[in-house]
Amino acid sequence: MHANHQQKVFSDYNDAAAGGNAGLVAATGGARFATYSADEKANLPQDAVDASFGCGNPMAFALVRRGQTVLDLGCGAGIDLMLAADRVGATGQVIGVDQSDPMIERAWKNVRAAGHQNIDIRKGQIENLPVTDGSVDWVISNCVINLANDKQRVFAEIFRVLKPGGRMMVSDIVADDLPIWMRRSAMLTSACVAGAISEAEYIQRLSAAGLSRCEVVGRNHYEPSQLAAVVRDSLPAFLARSFVGCMVAGATEKLTGTISSKFWSARVHARKDEVFA
Ligand SMILES: C[S@@+](CC[C@H](N)C(=O)[O-])C[C@H]1O[C@@H](n2cnc3c(N)ncnc32)[C@H](O)[C@@H]1O
Repeated sequence: MHANHQQKVFSDYNDAAAGGNAGLVAATGGARFATYSADEKANLPQDAVDASFGCGNPMAFALVRRGQTVLDLGCGAGIDLMLAADRVGATGQVIGVDQSDPMIERAWKNVRAAGHQNIDIRKGQIENLPVTDGSVDWVISNCVINLANDKQRVFAEIFRVLKPGGRMMVSDIVADDLPIWMRRSAMLTSACVAGAISEAEYIQRLSAAGLSRCEVVGRNHYEPSQLAAVVRDSLPAFLARSFVGCMVAGATEKLTGTISSKFWSARVHARKDEVFA
């Protein structure tokens, strides 16, 4: 990932949280690519749903129990924090970490509006978590690790903060064989595509960080029609012209179909083994 894209990720999500960046919000916001049920959405503050930029629903698949501690990497406006808080109950704790002040402010507003008492939101980077060693039962994350430049460091941090026996359930975009123009697109970086690694690399890097039972346990593939807005704004001029040509020729589906087959959302599980003396 280009170093200057990191700065753009930072400013894009600051802007989106503060009510700007209409392009990113229209393309990926509003829980468009997340997979929450209608019931879950109905029971959350509308603002948390509107400001949801996820690509899955990690809490739906994490076997979190009452009294446990859950850490959400890149918590955004707080949607998964609130789903986790309901699950762990009053005796449990939920911690969110995000690098964006406006996003954290919006998350606090949503968490307070929903009346949760067991959520703490901390400013920080997922590459250097403001969380004590061996202190959490679950790490969750929804469409964030693809945005990190140093993913190995993120996985090492996950290993560090998990209790022995603790587990990770992450929804994230993974990609295979992305064309170079997609890799170089700043817009597609912020939209969680250009920085994505393959499933095989995800698993290999998690294992290298010391985690076990690293596996992809689910996938969401996207229809070309779902992706039209995401790819249209990121095309370089020469491709945009042919894209428009494709539209005129009624072949839009073909182009977005080719692109859409190159990335998808994966649900990835890992565990920190207990150490027996
Ligand atoms: C695609 S949004 C997902 C937000 C949230 N998980 C959701 O489902 O709505 C990415 C979020 O991660 C944060 N973020 C990106 N890179 C980060 C990093 N390296 N450390 C901490 N937060 C980061 C952004 O500020 C933003 O809130």
